[in-house]
Amino acid sequence: MMGLKTLLSLLGVLELMLAAGGRHGRLMPGSPTNISRKDPVLRQVVLRAACSFNNQSNDAFLFKPSAIHRAQRQVVKGVLYIVDLEISRTVCSKRDNNNLSNCDFQPEGRLQQTFQCHTEVWVIPWRNETRTLVLDCKP
Ligand SMILES: *[C@@H]1O[C@H](CO)[C@@H](O)[C@H](O)[C@H]1NC(C)=O
Ligand SMILES: *[C@@H]1O[C@H](CO)[C@@H](O)[C@H](O)[C@H]1NC(C)=O
Ligand SMILES: *[C@@H]1O[C@H](CO)[C@@H](O)[C@H](O)[C@H]1NC(C)=O
Ligand SMILES: *[C@@H]1O[C@H](CO)[C@@H](O)[C@H](O)[C@H]1NC(C)=O
Repeated sequence: MMGLKTLLSLLGVLELMLAAGGRHGRLMPGSPTNISRKDPVLRQVVLRAACSFNNQSNDAFLFKPSAIHRAQRQVVKGVLYIVDLEISRTVCSKRDNNNLSNCDFQPEGRLQQTFQCHTEVWVIPWRNETRTLVLDCKP
């Protein structure tokens, strides 16, 4: 019986062949479609955005996702997740290395802050690979 892994590799090869023969009959990628806020991969994508933001910022506190404004998925040689989200400052200090899910948001006041982020994450299942193509956050 053919295993899932073999099947996924075959699909990967097929995809490459189609891409290689693309000059004439280019594979039409799907258009972006809305997905559920509960999609498990979306949840990972959103967490990944917050973790990358935390890793890149000089802030003393950790930020975590506070809202999702757009959640879309598009098939392009794998699956592209296109997400607009908000991330907000928590009460957890970065130095304490806390589990984000235990961190509350800052209460109203001087330290309360939210960034608007756009991220695009490409998931290539047959290569077991996830790549952040875009992460753009503005206050
Ligand atoms: C965190 O950022 C540093 C450089 O700023 C980079 O070398 C490292 O790979 C990043 N880690 C993650 C998990 O993104
Ligand atoms: C997709 O979601 C956005 C906002 O999240 C909404 O404005 C839009 O109407 C939705 N599109 C479809 C086709 O449901
Ligand atoms: C963080 O906490 C949540 C729930 O409390 C748990 O599911 C998750 O595995 C924890 N993550 C880490 C990295 O400890
Ligand atoms: C995919 O990669 C992750 C970490 O990069 C690894 O833990 C996991 O075992 C891999 N899965 C497969 C099916 O190769």
